[in-house]
Amino acid sequence: MGIEKTEKIWHNGKLIGWDEATIHVLSHVVSYGSAVFEGIRCYHTKQGSAVFRLRDHMQRMIHSAKIYRMELPSSLDELCQAAVDVVRVNKMDSCYIRPIALRGYGDVGVSPLSNPIEIYIACWGWGAYLGSDAIDQGVDVCVSSWARMAPNTLPSMAKAAANYMNSQLIRMEAVLNGYAEGIALDPSGLVSEGSGENVFLVVDGTVWTPPIATCGLQGITRASLLTLCDDLKIPVRQESIPREMLYLADEVFLSGTAAELTPLRSIDKIQIGKGRRGPITQQLQEEFFAIVRGTKPDRHNWLTPVPVPATTAAR
Ligand SMILES: Cc1ncc(COP(=O)(O)O)c(C=O)c1O
Repeated sequence: MGIEKTEKIWHNGKLIGWDEATIHVLSHVVSYGSAVFEGIRCYHTKQGSAVFRLRDHMQRMIHSAKIYRMELPSSLDELCQAAVDVVRVNKMDSCYIRPIALRGYGDVGVSPLSNPIEIYIACWGWGAYLGSDAIDQGVDVCVSSWARMAPNTLPSMAKAAANYMNSQLIRMEAVLNGYAEGIALDPSGLVSEGSGENVFLVVDGTVWTPPIATCGLQGITRASLLTLCDDLKIPVRQESIPREMLYLADEVFLSGTAAELTPLRSIDKIQIGKGRRGPITQQLQEEFFAIVRGTKPDRHNWLTPVPVPATTAAR
């Protein structure tokens, strides 16, 4: 999956050229993974480009930073405005936005406290994360042999770069074994999350998802889907899920900014339900995409409009 350059990247309050957005190899983040970041989607809607849950994403980045004692030099409002500016100046009408706050060049010891904090916000076109047919056809996944981080080790509520070393182990193992993604268990063996997605099951008409204590990220797509279940009067249970329940569920799907809502056809080569997207997954997808693409009213105020001409379509 290559990346197509856009023109500008926002850095600490200024727009710089894509190729100028570089850091020194001895920056703290390179050796020690000291960065917090976000992944945000901007959708093409009939009314123009719109960023999905921008404020919630930026708030989560501020929260991730707080856990790591990083004092960000920009406020929530400034970060939101900067993201809109980046999309606008790059003339994107749909794209993926990546804000990242990292510990920069200075001290080379483990303590990051005297290193400068740099914030960058980039955007680029990014289509379906788990393959072009994934949203309609579903994908085949496995349960990973790697567990998610134990509580009180690396905080999973922080979307921190270091957590993605664990995600990389999960995803590499899955891909090298021919699967689209891996689902990790928590250290006690309960279902946690995918390498970059939350997990949902449908059992007898009820939607299940692991509680946040099961070492997962508090996904913003996850929260949105719980709201949509409420709207659509679909019962929800946020409870611990044993591994074997994955195989017995009528439907299983992954949620995340990159993966959006991706149905699972099989897990560990065991067919899920009828081996294709199930009706509740489809209903939630239709509702979600109708809102983010502006074909249904934005009744929860999830979209931030971006004033750009519709030109460069990413998907
Ligand atoms: C580990 C992990 N879990 C869950 C998610 C889903 O979160 P969101 O819906 O906010 O993108 C992500 C993606 O950011 C992730 O990286």
